[in-house]
Formats: sequence, C-alpha cells, structure tokens
Amino acid sequence: MFEKNADTATAINRLLARRWSGRAYDRDRGVARNDLVALAEAARWAPSCYGDQPWRFLFWDRNRDEGAWRRAFECLGELNQRWAERAPVLAAVCSDQRFTSNDKPNRWGAYDSGAAAMSLCVQATELGLMVHQMGGFDAERLRAAFSIPDRYAPMAMMTIGYQVDQGAVPADLAGRELAPRQRRPLDESFFDGGWGIPLRR
Ligand SMILES: Cc1cc2nc3c(=O)[nH]c(=O)nc-3n(C[C@H](O)[C@H](O)[C@H](O)COP(=O)(O)O)c2cc1C
Repeated sequence: MFEKNADTATAINRLLARRWSGRAYDRDRGVARNDLVALAEAARWAPSCYGDQPWRFLFWDRNRDEGAWRRAFECLGELNQRWAERAPVLAAVCSDQRFTSNDKPNRWGAYDSGAAAMSLCVQATELGLMVHQMGGFDAERLRAAFSIPDRYAPMAMMTIGYQVDQGAVPADLAGRELAPRQRRPLDESFFDGGWGIPLRR
C-alpha cells in the first residue's frame, strides 16, 4: 500500500502519522458491517461540549443500497465525483446547531462534530481503511434527498474504503495524489505563552 506518513518534528502516534486523504479506492472491496460499526463507535466516544453529542452521521453502503449511495454521490461536487465513484461507502457528518438539553444555540457543535469525524478517521486507519473528507458537496441537495432536519447543518461528506494502487486515480489528479503531504511549519500555528510566540523545544 502506498503510504504518505506525516513528516513530524518528533515522534507522534503512528495512526495519526499514517492517516491521509487519498483518492485511489478499491471499487471491489466493500467494508464489513462490523468495521462500519467500529467507525461509528469511535466517533460516538468523542468528547463534546456538555456531552451533548451534536454529531449525526449518515452512511451509504453501495453494496447494501446502490440507489441511496447514488443519491448521496450525486450531491458531491464534480471534481470529487471523479474519484469518489470508486468508494464503496459514503458518509455525511451533520451537526446539531442547538443543544439537546435546552434548545439554545450550540456554538461548539461544529467543533465537536469535527472531533467525532477525526476519531472515525483514526479508527479507519487502524482498520486499514482510508477516509477522505469532503467539503465539496451540495448541502441543500443532501438535506432534501435525505430529509435532514433544519437544525442539523451538513458539515462534510466522506468516502470510506480500502486503498488500491495509484493507477485508480484519474491521470490529471495523480499529481496531487503523489505529492508529499505538507503543513505550515509548527511555529506558525502553535504559540507559547502569547500570540505569535512560537512553541519551541
Ligand atoms: C472539512 C474538509 C473538507 C475537505 N474538502 C475536500 C474536498 O472537497 N475535496 C477533496 O479532494 N479533499 C477535501 N478535503 C481533504 C483535504 O484536502 C485534506 O485533508 C488536506 O489536504 C490534508 O491532507 P491529508 O488529509 O492527506 O493530511 C477536505 C478536508 C476537510 C477536513
């Protein structure tokens, strides 16, 4: 399997280093039901403000319901569709915009839902699966297609499946697929004691 481990300043958890958003999915290898449940469990145990658990995840398994998978797929942006069509499972993360307990606006909902999504990604890496999150989708179309209630904001969609060799990616997307993963230097985003003061060893 093609690996794109993160280049880190010091050793980090191997799953965090190994997780990456590839696009080459094995069209013929579905995701076992129990593995999908494990992804959901990992997300379920994420932390959240007041323990409110604002996230809602919708999964579409092509091998169980091709029609529903297709309706979800059609909500993706065109560029995403070009590679996502090989993914056996699609998912969407929605976030409750209000607290369940008191119906007041929850300004941490998106934050918590992102944490749950990341837990899912890490669990997927542990299981040898690859998840690619996407903001490029039509949220209102998704809402209409699957009757998502107004109070839940569709945050992201994702592809889930097994990686296959890079030849599966359309040629014009291969450059991005093979390029080294990059991040801003540590000291540009992580501060120590005051804004802009770089965190150093
Ligand atoms: C909220 C969100 C939206 C994203 N939207 C897209 C997208 O529409 N299409 C895409 O190809 N990748 C998308 N990505 C993937 C990012 O481009 C990717 O995570 C980033 O380049 C870092 O690469 P890595 O995940 O391999 O470390 C998205 C990621 C996140 C978290």
